[in-house]
Amino acid sequence: MNSTISPPLAWSDSLLLGNIGIDDEHAVLAECIGRLQSARDEDLALALDEVLAHAAKHFAAENALMLDTAFPPRDCHIKEHEAVLSSLGGVKRRLTHGDVEVARRLADELASWFPAHVQHLDSALSHWLCKLRYGAKPLVLRMGRKSTAESAS
Ligand SMILES: [Fe+2]
Ligand SMILES: [Fe+2]
Repeated sequence: MNSTISPPLAWSDSLLLGNIGIDDEHAVLAECIGRLQSARDEDLALALDEVLAHAAKHFAAENALMLDTAFPPRDCHIKEHEAVLSSLGGVKRRLTHGDVEVARRLADELASWFPAHVQHLDSALSHWLCKLRYGAKPLVLRMGRKSTAESAS
Protein backbone atom coordinates (compact mmCIF):
# COMPACT_ATOMS: atom_id res chain seq x y z
CA MET A 1 0.00 0.00 0.00
CA ASN A 2 1.22 3.50 -0.77
CA SER A 3 1.22 5.51 2.47
CA THR A 4 3.08 8.56 1.17
CA ILE A 5 2.33 11.76 3.10
CA SER A 6 3.44 14.42 0.64
CA PRO A 7 2.04 14.97 -2.85
CA PRO A 8 4.34 13.46 -5.49
CA LEU A 9 7.01 15.86 -6.62
CA ALA A 10 6.43 17.18 -10.12
CA TRP A 11 8.71 19.25 -12.28
CA SER A 12 7.81 22.89 -12.64
CA ASP A 13 9.44 25.90 -14.21
CA SER A 14 10.03 27.36 -10.73
CA LEU A 15 12.92 24.88 -10.65
CA LEU A 16 14.52 26.19 -13.84
CA LEU A 17 18.04 27.57 -13.39
CA GLY A 18 18.92 28.64 -16.92
CA ASN A 19 21.50 25.93 -17.57
CA ILE A 20 19.95 23.57 -20.13
CA GLY A 21 22.03 20.52 -19.21
CA ILE A 22 21.38 20.86 -15.49
CA ASP A 23 17.71 21.77 -15.97
CA ASP A 24 17.09 18.73 -18.18
CA GLU A 25 18.70 16.41 -15.64
CA HIS A 26 16.71 18.00 -12.82
CA ALA A 27 13.46 17.45 -14.71
CA VAL A 28 14.24 13.73 -15.00
CA LEU A 29 15.29 13.48 -11.35
CA ALA A 30 12.11 15.25 -10.17
CA GLU A 31 10.01 12.80 -12.17
CA CYS A 32 11.96 9.85 -10.73
CA ILE A 33 11.38 11.12 -7.17
CA GLY A 34 7.68 11.62 -7.91
CA ARG A 35 7.43 8.05 -9.22
CA LEU A 36 9.17 6.76 -6.09
CA GLN A 37 6.62 8.57 -3.92
CA SER A 38 3.73 7.08 -5.90
CA ALA A 39 5.13 3.57 -6.35
CA ARG A 40 3.22 0.55 -5.11
CA ASP A 41 5.11 -1.56 -2.60
CA GLU A 42 6.07 -4.09 -5.26
CA ASP A 43 7.48 -1.32 -7.48
CA LEU A 44 9.47 0.53 -4.80
CA ALA A 45 12.79 -1.23 -5.44
CA LEU A 46 12.69 -0.46 -9.15
CA ALA A 47 11.67 3.16 -8.52
CA LEU A 48 14.44 3.55 -5.94
CA ASP A 49 16.97 2.10 -8.39
CA GLU A 50 15.88 4.71 -10.95
CA VAL A 51 16.36 7.54 -8.47
CA LEU A 52 19.72 6.17 -7.40
CA ALA A 53 20.99 5.72 -10.97
CA HIS A 54 19.88 9.14 -12.14
CA ALA A 55 21.04 10.92 -8.98
CA ALA A 56 24.48 9.28 -9.20
CA LYS A 57 24.86 10.32 -12.85
CA HIS A 58 23.59 13.84 -12.26
CA PHE A 59 25.63 14.45 -9.11
CA ALA A 60 28.78 13.20 -10.86
CA ALA A 61 28.14 15.65 -13.71
CA GLU A 62 27.64 18.57 -11.30
CA ASN A 63 30.67 17.55 -9.26
CA ALA A 64 32.80 17.53 -12.41
CA LEU A 65 31.54 21.00 -13.38
CA MET A 66 32.39 22.30 -9.91
CA LEU A 67 35.86 20.76 -9.88
CA ASP A 68 36.67 21.73 -13.47
CA THR A 69 35.76 25.38 -12.85
CA ALA A 70 37.09 25.58 -9.25
CA PHE A 71 33.61 26.59 -8.00
CA PRO A 72 34.44 28.12 -4.59
CA PRO A 73 31.77 26.41 -2.39
CA ARG A 74 32.19 23.05 -4.16
CA ASP A 75 33.14 21.07 -1.05
CA CYS A 76 29.85 21.54 0.79
CA HIS A 77 27.84 20.93 -2.39
CA ILE A 78 29.76 17.74 -3.20
CA LYS A 79 29.37 16.55 0.40
CA GLU A 80 25.61 17.03 0.18
CA HIS A 81 25.52 14.93 -3.00
CA GLU A 82 27.54 12.23 -1.25
CA ALA A 83 25.22 12.27 1.78
CA VAL A 84 22.16 11.81 -0.43
CA LEU A 85 23.74 8.93 -2.34
CA SER A 86 24.76 7.33 0.95
CA SER A 87 21.17 7.60 2.24
CA LEU A 88 19.81 6.15 -0.98
CA GLY A 89 22.22 3.22 -0.78
CA GLY A 90 21.34 2.58 2.87
CA VAL A 91 17.61 2.63 2.16
CA LYS A 92 18.10 0.33 -0.84
CA ARG A 93 19.77 -2.22 1.46
CA ARG A 94 16.96 -1.93 4.03
CA LEU A 95 14.33 -2.25 1.33
CA THR A 96 15.84 -5.57 0.23
CA HIS A 97 15.02 -6.76 3.77
CA GLY A 98 11.41 -5.62 3.41
CA ASP A 99 11.58 -2.21 5.11
CA VAL A 100 8.99 -0.45 2.96
CA GLU A 101 8.32 2.38 5.39
CA VAL A 102 11.91 3.61 5.35
CA ALA A 103 11.69 3.86 1.56
CA ARG A 104 8.45 5.82 1.83
CA ARG A 105 9.99 8.23 4.31
CA LEU A 106 13.03 8.68 2.08
CA ALA A 107 10.79 9.42 -0.91
CA ASP A 108 9.02 12.21 0.95
CA GLU A 109 12.27 13.57 2.33
CA LEU A 110 13.76 13.65 -1.17
CA ALA A 111 10.70 15.51 -2.43
CA SER A 112 11.29 18.18 0.24
CA TRP A 113 15.05 18.23 -0.18
CA PHE A 114 15.22 18.43 -3.97
CA PRO A 115 13.61 21.88 -4.57
CA ALA A 116 15.67 23.41 -1.75
CA HIS A 117 18.89 21.94 -3.13
CA VAL A 118 18.07 23.18 -6.63
CA GLN A 119 17.10 26.66 -5.52
CA HIS A 120 20.10 27.15 -3.26
CA LEU A 121 23.16 25.08 -4.12
CA ASP A 122 22.46 24.28 -7.78
CA SER A 123 21.27 27.82 -8.46
CA ALA A 124 24.59 29.16 -7.20
CA LEU A 125 26.41 26.73 -9.50
CA SER A 126 24.31 27.79 -12.48
CA HIS A 127 25.08 31.46 -11.78
CA TRP A 128 28.77 30.67 -11.48
CA LEU A 129 28.89 28.78 -14.78
CA CYS A 130 26.97 31.50 -16.60
CA LYS A 131 29.21 34.19 -15.20
CA LEU A 132 32.30 32.28 -16.34
CA ARG A 133 30.94 31.67 -19.83
CA TYR A 134 29.04 34.88 -20.54
CA GLY A 135 29.96 37.33 -17.79
CA ALA A 136 26.31 37.61 -16.74
CA LYS A 137 23.55 35.97 -14.71
CA PRO A 138 21.42 33.28 -16.37
CA LEU A 139 18.21 34.46 -18.01
CA VAL A 140 15.25 32.28 -17.00
CA LEU A 141 11.76 32.69 -18.47
CA ARG A 142 9.09 31.09 -16.28
CA MET A 143 5.46 30.56 -17.17
CA GLY A 144 4.33 30.76 -13.55
CA ARG A 145 3.35 27.16 -12.89
CA LYS A 146 4.10 26.22 -9.30
CA SER A 147 5.79 23.03 -8.17
CA THR A 148 3.96 20.56 -5.93
CA ALA A 149 6.32 21.55 -3.13
CA GLU A 150 5.20 25.19 -3.38
CA SER A 151 1.51 24.28 -3.76
CA ALA A 152 1.63 22.18 -0.60
CA SER A 153 3.07 24.97 1.56
FE1 LIG B 1 21.39 19.27 -9.32
FE1 LIG C 1 23.62 19.68 -6.74
